[in-house]
Amino acid sequence: MSNLDVSVVKSLLTAEEGDVRANVLNAFSYIRLTLGENSWVGLYRKEDDGLHLSYFSGSVACLFIAFGKGVVGESYVSGKEMYVPDVSVLKNYIACDAKSKSEYVVPVIKNGEIKAIFDIDSEYIDGLKDDVPLLREIGHLLGDLLSDF
Ligand code: SME
Repeated sequence: MSNLDVSVVKSLLTAEEGDVRANVLNAFSYIRLTLGENSWVGLYRKEDDGLHLSYFSGSVACLFIAFGKGVVGESYVSGKEMYVPDVSVLKNYIACDAKSKSEYVVPVIKNGEIKAIFDIDSEYIDGLKDDVPLLREIGHLLGDLLSDF
């Protein structure tokens, strides 16, 4: 289990000195470094044609994901979170980075609509198991606090 602290994420997201972009990027850097330097933390924003890469911290990532494709696209279509302990055994998986070994996605909901998918990749197999409840909480926080994704 990591030392992830949701209250730190909340204070980074609501820092008065920062604008929304700086605050989200700071919060995502904090989450990534807490989970492991080679992890990846970001948002895929829902547009009419699919899911587009938005704020993230981590290595180069896929820019666009079609509805239903990969873990991200599947979570959008089902409206459900997904935890994948070992991405190598999942058929509907898009490998943006060979270092990612496990992944968690949760829809970010605002006014009853899915606005984005919050996506976290770990460099370890089953690396997010103990952090899923906190990451879920952060996903909900993003829906409450952000208006642009
Ligand atoms: N693995 C994801 C793609 C996004 S990256 O993890 C950043 C998927 O299967 O949808």
